[in-house]
This record gives sequence, structure tokens and C-alpha cells, in this order.
Amino acid sequence: MTDDLASFEAETLARIGAAGDLAALDAVRVAALGKNGALTALMKGLGAVAPEERKARGAALNAAKDALTQAIEARRAALADAALDQRLAAERIDVTLPPRPEAQGLVHVISRTVEEIVAVFGAMGFTVAEGPDIEDDWKNFGALNIPEHHPARQDHDTFYLPGRTADGREKVLRTHTSPVQIRTMTGGPPPIRVIAPGRTYRADHDATHSPMFHQVEGLAIDRHITLGHLKGCLVDFLRAFFGIAHLPVRFRSSYFPFTEPSMEVDIGWNRRTGELGSGGDWLEILGSGMVHPKVLLNCGIDHTEWQGFAFGMGIERVAMLKHGLTDLRPFYDSDIRWLRATGFRPEDVASTATGIA
Ligand code: DAH
Repeated sequence: MTDDLASFEAETLARIGAAGDLAALDAVRVAALGKNGALTALMKGLGAVAPEERKARGAALNAAKDALTQAIEARRAALADAALDQRLAAERIDVTLPPRPEAQGLVHVISRTVEEIVAVFGAMGFTVAEGPDIEDDWKNFGALNIPEHHPARQDHDTFYLPGRTADGREKVLRTHTSPVQIRTMTGGPPPIRVIAPGRTYRADHDATHSPMFHQVEGLAIDRHITLGHLKGCLVDFLRAFFGIAHLPVRFRSSYFPFTEPSMEVDIGWNRRTGELGSGGDWLEILGSGMVHPKVLLNCGIDHTEWQGFAFGMGIERVAMLKHGLTDLRPFYDSDIRWLRATGFRPEDVASTATGIA
């Protein structure tokens, strides 16, 4: 019996030594030590051994098990080392090969223009506010003093969405960034100085309109804000943004439900050549005004203590003017050739360098 065990152990050790890879080694382990393995069977048979021999037999079996387990582990480590050596010998890196060309992404002209706008207003102390693309009709219209059945609601060619908000309001894709004014004023007390760039939507599609476009909203609320602040701020912005120190800027009386008085702002250009800053023609560029007292009241702000100005500007229009692009349609076509031709290198950071004396 003891001889049997000795020869079984010797045989198994020989098989362990001969195992050429990890799979073969594991087969040897299972055959000897697995649930149905030979040594396991011998251990199970211990009960049938005569009591006076059982102790010595048990010790011998345990010693054999330990020896085999150790041998398997040693062989496993040796095989793993050998496999690694082989891989290292086979894998070589040719450090003289030229690198693969790396795809360089570019910043879209809209993103770049937003960065430029934020840089100028940021330098004036404005921070960036945000709101969701899906709004309720109260923030998009009602709170802005655009009542139901007001023609402005139709003018905006609104995309209405199915379903209602939790408080029972109609859902719309925001038709302008002005609802961010409402979110900002209801979100915290004045003073406020924010700009809100973002996507806006109207059911309108032709050469100069895309159903999705971008606006930037501005809002300044404080105790003593006047029309003079509005004018100074927007003139400075337009001259800095376009980099033309003497850009002509004209304020023209207008109407928006959410401002009183309201003004549209034009810049001087040459309609024939498209050149900005001279030429005697005027180009409308943004809407603005003093925030209507009703809008302040709708947001819980005391209009006898606080007042301010607001403005809204289309980003595509100023992007095209500033960067010399004549067609709006390719903006959202994802044509890689157009994107390469018009994109900006991400490391060219927009600055507030303005060309203004
Ligand atoms: N929301 C207006 C539009 O989409 C633009 C606008 C005009 C915004 C005057 C303003 C403003 O904040 O004061 O046509």
C-alpha cells in the first residue's frame, strides 16, 4: 500500500514535470487532486483501513498531497515565466517607425463664437447661465409678458411637445433664450449679471433659417440700472466682439412684450461688399430693452427697488458676419470638408483682445 502511494506520487511528479503548458498541467492536477482524482479517492478510502494503520496512512496521504500541490504550483510559475519570456522575445517594437497620423478635431464656428461672446461679457463681470431646451410655456411666454393668443406666440412658430409638465403646463422647445431670464430671476435674488448662450428652436427652414439655431441672452438687474448702461454695455460688446473700434452702432425704438422701452440695435456695414464698420448701411443685430416691470413681478422681484436691461442676439448671424461665412445651411450638415475649412484649433483660445484703444 505504501509502495503504491510512493509510486503514484513519483509518477504524478513526473507527469507534472512533463506538462508542457498550463492546460496540460491542470489536467494532471485534476486527475490527482480533483474531486474524482486518484489521491482524493485514496483519502476517501481511509475509513476502510485497519485502525492501527490509519494514522500512518493518513499522514502519508497528506504528505503526498502537499508534495504534489507544491510541485504543481512550482511548475505553474515556471510555465508562466516561460510563456512571458516567449512573448517578450516574439514582440518587438520598432521605435523608428513614423507615428500614425492623429485626427485633429476642430472647434465649430458656433462654439467658437459662443466662446468669443462669453470672453467679452465675462470681462465685463457677467457669468454664464443655462436653461433646458425643453421649456414650459409659462417660462417661454407667460412670465415674459407674452400672454396666450398674443401674436408673438404665433410669430415664434413654436414646436409644441406632447404631454404636460408636472404642474400641468404645455411643453415647448424654447423659441428663444429669454426663459433663462425667468429661471435666473426666480433662482436667486438680484443683483444679476448673466448671459445665457444656447440652442433655440422654431419651425422655420430656408436659406437663412434653421429650425435649430442659437441665441445668447443677456440680463443685468440692479438698483440703479439705466438705459445708458444698456447702451454702453452693448456698444462696448459689439466693438470688442467685431474688433472694430469705431463700429457704428444705432439704437432704434422697437417693441418686445418683455421690455419697456425696447430697442433694436443695428451696426454699420456695407450691404454690397459685406464689410462691417463703414459703407452707410445698417444691419439689425440684436433686440434689447429695459426689463418690463411685469416680468420682474412675475419673478417675485420688487420693480420699485430693482430694474435692469436685457438683450437677445442670434449667434449664427454674428458668427457669419465676423467669420465671413455667407451660407447658413452648411452649419449643421456635418460635412467634414466644411468643418475642416471653417473650424478653429482648440488651442487658439478666444480672448478679449479687442482692438479698442
Ligand atoms: N427673445 C427675443 C427674440 O427671440 C430677443 C430679445 C429681444 C431678447 C429683446 C431680449 C430682449 O432679452 O430684451 O426675438
